[in-house]
Formats: sequence, structure tokens, C-alpha cells
Amino acid sequence: MGTATIPSVDKLTFWQGLQVLGRLRKGLSGLPEALLLLHRRLGDVFEVRLGRFQLVIVAHPSLLRQALVDKREAFAWRVGDEPIVRLLRRGFLVMDGAEHAHLRAVQERSNRRRHLLPRLEDFHTLVDEVTRRWQPGYTLDMLVEMRKLALQAFEEVYFSHDIRPELPALWEPILAAIEYIGPGLWLLTGPAPPPPKVKALDAHFYRLIRERRQNPDPPDDLLTHLIQAYEDDELVRDQMLTMFIAGHDTSTAALAWSLHLLAEWPDHQATLQAEIRDTLGSQPPTPANLSTLPHLDAFVREVLRLYPPIHAGNRRVVAPVELGGYTLAPGKRVLLSYYLVHRHPAFWEEPDRFWPERWQKSGPSETFAYVPFSGGPRMCIGAPFAQIELRLVLARLLQRYRFRPAGRSPRPYMGATLEPRPGVPLFIEAI
Ligand code: HEM
Repeated sequence: MGTATIPSVDKLTFWQGLQVLGRLRKGLSGLPEALLLLHRRLGDVFEVRLGRFQLVIVAHPSLLRQALVDKREAFAWRVGDEPIVRLLRRGFLVMDGAEHAHLRAVQERSNRRRHLLPRLEDFHTLVDEVTRRWQPGYTLDMLVEMRKLALQAFEEVYFSHDIRPELPALWEPILAAIEYIGPGLWLLTGPAPPPPKVKALDAHFYRLIRERRQNPDPPDDLLTHLIQAYEDDELVRDQMLTMFIAGHDTSTAALAWSLHLLAEWPDHQATLQAEIRDTLGSQPPTPANLSTLPHLDAFVREVLRLYPPIHAGNRRVVAPVELGGYTLAPGKRVLLSYYLVHRHPAFWEEPDRFWPERWQKSGPSETFAYVPFSGGPRMCIGAPFAQIELRLVLARLLQRYRFRPAGRSPRPYMGATLEPRPGVPLFIEAI
């Protein structure tokens, strides 16, 4: 086992330290830039203090592979008493070992491509439904619009439920839940109980569970699979909330970043519009015809590289483990930084440049250099849905609208997801 000391901020020169502090002068919103700087100064494994936590940041593809595959038994996902664990309780995202494996197995079926494809055949109607209230010639915050869309899409596909009538009442509770699990004051003070508003979300899930248990002819979806597997409604609620948060906040961020980049790069927007027009004509995008849109595919890959909605995997070491020549003792907190690996100069040419064409040449030289959905046995269970959803939404929107910037560019904020803050105000034109 390696005995070297992990480099930390005290290895920085005075000027390097000042540069990092400069990035953090506005608080957590400077964190992405500060981490990039620390990575380039300190190397692929380094330590930082964030509130009460001393975190080891890991930022090399082969080390990610070790942590996610070969040495994964040494890492726990249930990190301890943190807001996400308090909120999701026994949700499988915060479980480990046999319990995790069992809970995940029940949910695999509803996440398979084979199961999803027929459900996504008419997905464009859902996009049209959300955009029906858009008024071309006006400005809208796409972070808000994409959240509405992602919520409706998630509930339709996984619970066969139309959330629209309840959305106004659930909006604040959803935002409160997301804010609660992101970094905040609790890093200094310790976690508070979940905000009382979240009870409205619980009531929503318990009602869906009750109705589904009484349904003599239930649809073949995640909710049915869950209630058939478990009699314990609380356990079902925990899985529903887990999938609901992980399944919409991520797509919201990815779509909002996509629209921001389209507006910032009108040439790319025009290229995608031409591809969609020339290939689909007036046909709506469907899962089957998406494979005919290579520019759109490259665009989505590049968005997820530069702005991976889940920018890091949060872990706790549970058995002594060697990583990159350093020994990590049980109890150590580790952040597997997908964000830093996606911008690693040894694996990406011009890593900070938005350059979708890079994907037409070749992918990364190392599989774990590109991990927007993580990797190994615990990679994102919703990736098959998300991959199709992002492309279908963007294709449909680009078929009907042009987007222009209408305010200051957002900055990446490392909250529950890598969110474009304060939002993505865009000016919309009908095509
Ligand atoms: C663009 C969209 C998405 C991205 C970028 C994304 C990314 C990720 C990543 C990186 C992880 C691993 C996290 C870690 O290492 O700690 C993950 C796990 C997970 N994702 Fe996603 N995700 C997306 C969409 C979805 C959707 C649509 C769902 C559900 C419908 C979902 C459900 C989950 C769950 C439940 C886990 C935990 C899996 C486990 O622990 O076994 N995600 N996701």
C-alpha cells in the first residue's frame, strides 16, 4: 500500500493559493473553477476541506475505473448522516451491498431500452404539450421550462401519471427537496431534518401507491413493478422519490445547458436545424429515427462532457484501499470527479472548448475518461431513458423554434446537479 501524503492546498505557493481563493470569493459558485485550478496544480488525487469534510478528490480515468469497478467493495454509497440519506431513506441510490442489489434488480425491467421504446414512440406530443403555452417573440427561463418538461416526462414514463394538475402545488416542495440535498450551510453545521414542504411530495407518492394497489388492470411500469415487489409502502415511497429526483433534475440540467449552448453558438444551432429538417422533414422525431441525426448525437455528447449533470460520485471508504499510490483509510470521504476527468488535458484536446465535432473524429482514448452516467455495476440506471429523452426533446424543439440569448450567461453551480445558475433566459422565435 502507498504511504505518500495526499497533496492538499498547503502544497500551493502563495500566489496559487490566492488564485484559488479568488475563484471562491463568491462562495460555492466559484467551486468548479477552483477545482479545475487545484487539479492542474496538485495532480489527479488531492485533498480539500469543504465545511466539516476533508474530501479526497479523484480525477483520473484509470482511478475512476478502480473505484467504480475493481476496488468498488472498499467504497460505500451510503455516506453517513447527510441530507440525501435523510431524504431518500432506503432509496437504492443510498444503499449498499445485497440490499442495493435487490432494490436495483426490481427496477431494471422498467429501465431497459426494450421496455422504454414503445412508451417513447409519441414522446414529441409531450414536448408539444409543454411548449403549447410558449409565446414566440418572448423570453422564457429554460431552466424552469425544462424542469416542467422533465417532470412530466418522468411521471408519464415511470408512473403512467399526468402530473400537470398537481405541478403548481408540488413545484415549491420539489425545489425545496433539491436545495436540501445540495451543498449548503449544513456542511458547517450538520444536517437539519428535511424541510416540512417535502411532505407534499410524500403525499403525492402515497396517493399514487394507494391508487395503483386498487387498480385491477395496472400498467406495466416502474410503479407497478415496485408495488408488486414490496408490501411496505414506505419502501416503495423511498424508491419513487429516488427515481423522481435522480430522473428529472439531471435531465433538467442537461436540457437547460443544451439550450444555453445552442443559443450561444448559432452556427451549431443552424447545423442541427438543417440536419433535422433534411432528415426528418415534418416527421416528428421518434426513438427509431434518432440514429439518423449524427450532429445532434455529437452535440449531446459534448454537452454532457462539459456540463455533466452529476459532476461527481460521493463515497465513503469502508476498507483500506490504495488509489493512485495513496492509502485511503476507512472513514475517508472521496469525491470521484466526473467533471474534472471530462476536462482532463491528458485525455481531451482543448478540454475546455465546446467542440461537438471532436466526437466525429473519435471518442476518448480511455473509456473512463467519459463517464456522464458513471460506470461499472452502479452506473446510472436511467441512462437508456435519459439518452433518448434528451435527443427527442432537443430534436422536437429545434424543429419548431430558434433560441437566442436574452440575458447574462449562467455559471455552473455544483448543487444537487451541475446547474446553470441563476437560469437560462432565452428569446424564442418560431421557425
Ligand atoms: C442526463 C441525465 C442523467 C445523468 C447525466 C445521470 C447521471 C448519473 C450518474 C453519473 C450516476 C452515478 C452517480 C455516482 O457515481 O454517485 C447516476 C446514478 C443514478 N441515476 Fe442517473 N443520470 C441521468 C438520468 C437519470 C434518470 C432519467 C434516472 C431515472 C429515471 C436516473 C436514476 C439514477 C439512479 C437511481 C442512480 C443510482 C443507481 C445506483 O446506485 O444503482 N438517472 N446517474
